[in-house]
Amino acid sequence: MIESIPTLVHYPVSILERVQPEALFVNQQPIELELGSGDGSFLAKYATLHPELNFIGVERLLGRLRKLDKKGLKAALSNLRLIRLEAAYLLEFMLPPQSMSAIHVYFPDPWPKRKHRKNRLINAQFTVLAARVLKPNCVVWLRTDDLDYFQQMTQVFGDNEFFEKVETPEELSIVITDFERGFQARGVSTQRAAYRLKHQ
Ligand SMILES: C[S@@+](CC[C@H](N)C(=O)[O-])C[C@H]1O[C@@H](n2cnc3c(N)ncnc32)[C@H](O)[C@@H]1O
Repeated sequence: MIESIPTLVHYPVSILERVQPEALFVNQQPIELELGSGDGSFLAKYATLHPELNFIGVERLLGRLRKLDKKGLKAALSNLRLIRLEAAYLLEFMLPPQSMSAIHVYFPDPWPKRKHRKNRLINAQFTVLAARVLKPNCVVWLRTDDLDYFQQMTQVFGDNEFFEKVETPEELSIVITDFERGFQARGVSTQRAAYRLKHQ
């Protein structure tokens, strides 16, 4: 008999068909998305603090996804599922419209060289994709250590008339990520911004 190994990772049957996010969870409750979860300390902690919410962590690197998988299994989190995919592809092609209750993007790769900036996840197109998958009044939460990227984030969301700037509550900002812990240890300052999708 082949025993199945426990995992929180969801493997979509096809990358040409939309995921049904609610089918990933036992409890039907709002679903929040984290893009580029890395080693997953943020989601492991935040999902533990919020059993009334479901979470999907998205990470393209297998080794990092496995670390988060282990953390989630160890904490017996039934409100966390993971997907290994390119974040922008997931947003554009795999998530249904108005299916997410928040998007968290913390310390996305900054691509500091000018010629590489086209690779940044947060750009004008991202705001359009985020507006499509978010439910009205729901928020994109952003953090970065890179000042130029922060400027780009605030510019593209500021330019999108469907979003308005909001503050990040203390309850959320005190849950730090792995990269953030490293920046704090080295005394590197970090930035936060958040944008709510207006009711349309
Ligand atoms: C700088 S790390 C930050 C990780 C985590 N958010 C943190 O703050 O500790 C960025 C993470 O995003 C992942 N990543 C970058 N671009 C991605 C993409 N397009 N789709 C999915 N994951 C991505 C990287 O593999 C990496 O783990």
